[in-house]
Amino acid sequence: MSAQLVAQLRAAMGEGRLAAGERLPSSRALAVLLGVSRTVVTEAYEQLYAEGWLEGRHGSGTYVTEGVTAPMPAPQVVEMRPVRRAAALHEIDLRPGLAWIGALDTPAWRRAWRLASGMPPQQRQDPHGLPGLRQALAEYIRRSRGVTCPVDGLLVTRGATNGLDLLAATVVRPGDRVGVEEPGYSRARAVLSGRGAELVPCPVDEHGLVVDGLPDDLRLVYTTPSHQFPMGGVLPVPRRQALLAWARRNGALIAEDDYDGEFRYDVAPLPALYGLDPEVVVYLGTTAKILTADMGVGWLVGRPDLVAEVALRREALNDRTAVVPQDALRLLLERGDLDRYVRRMRAEYARRREVVVQALDGLPLRGDTAGLHLVVDVAEPVAARAAREAARRGVLVETLDRHHMGPVSASGLVIGYGSAATLAELREGCEIVRTLAL
Ligand SMILES: Cc1ncc(COP(=O)(O)O)c(C=O)c1O
Repeated sequence: MSAQLVAQLRAAMGEGRLAAGERLPSSRALAVLLGVSRTVVTEAYEQLYAEGWLEGRHGSGTYVTEGVTAPMPAPQVVEMRPVRRAAALHEIDLRPGLAWIGALDTPAWRRAWRLASGMPPQQRQDPHGLPGLRQALAEYIRRSRGVTCPVDGLLVTRGATNGLDLLAATVVRPGDRVGVEEPGYSRARAVLSGRGAELVPCPVDEHGLVVDGLPDDLRLVYTTPSHQFPMGGVLPVPRRQALLAWARRNGALIAEDDYDGEFRYDVAPLPALYGLDPEVVVYLGTTAKILTADMGVGWLVGRPDLVAEVALRREALNDRTAVVPQDALRLLLERGDLDRYVRRMRAEYARRREVVVQALDGLPLRGDTAGLHLVVDVAEPVAARAAREAARRGVLVETLDRHHMGPVSASGLVIGYGSAATLAELREGCEIVRTLAL
């Protein structure tokens, strides 16, 4: 982050947006403004001192060195208040994949970690995870996702991707054909091919995975039925049934990645696919969206005999979830704190989604009824140009092409509303995108 700040300050000075002789905010003030630690700013300032961009007048602050940059025209210098200057330095990140954590530092969160940190170290851990957490998670999944799961069919992982990796390590033999959504989640592809799978791209449309036409020879298919990543479709019930029938007919397994299934805005979330046929579906859950990816806890749910095999394989690989985060999550679940937080976040994301949809008025949107991202349906070359120009103006969005494995079949912009810090930033960023994509 220091390096990013150095680069942005250098560019601002080089282009004259920060004029020679201008005073920079104090490291403390800039750190607060950017939401970073003070060390990030002091390191950046030190680097720029060393390079000669900045000079200090003893006791009176940090200034842009005279002569390193052309002076700004006078009226603009007068207008450069700290907030404007910070906005020029600060990027608005609308890339998908991150949850908003601005409201996470609650007393309940801190209490859970404090209590969990008192756990004695364990010599040997059950590869399924801590029993108390497994119980609490089984109840959470029933409450939040409408499906009953047996505790002996639940294994605590480090996240959805780790769950997929463990499943692949258990059931995929090198050369097995495994279906992945196209476009889809690139990390799922990486994990599966890392375990020797031959990836088979399976088309998706606005409703999610296209089930008709799935090849008969797949060992496993990876899918995101609650909110297809990245296109945003919610798999309709008839397709869910057709998918399960396909799996039964072919002796295949379905890996259901339910990464953001708690968030649906128009109607209540559909129950997880797993609930319709626990024999053929392996359910992958995660704290990445409901809390933060940084927590490093997820869950895998499946047929108890299959989960026992996964646990054995996991032990052989010496793979485990750290116990302190497990226990912190148990406490958050048992005290009702997580449910409260998810309810709050559902309201927060609904507000954010509303701002995004309004700011993108006039553009065709997909996948905006659920999850933390949506797709703006624009053709190439407009999408790539809009993303490039938005980045130049400090707004980061992704294009759909990067989520494809093979030839690009869908174009558009993917907008995440988890990572931008404020509603105002979200609105500003989306308004910029709108002017570029219309
Ligand atoms: C489709 C999808 N699955 C899973 C995850 C999260 O995975 P993990 O729990 O491994 O962090 C993400 C996060 O961006 C995602 O987009």
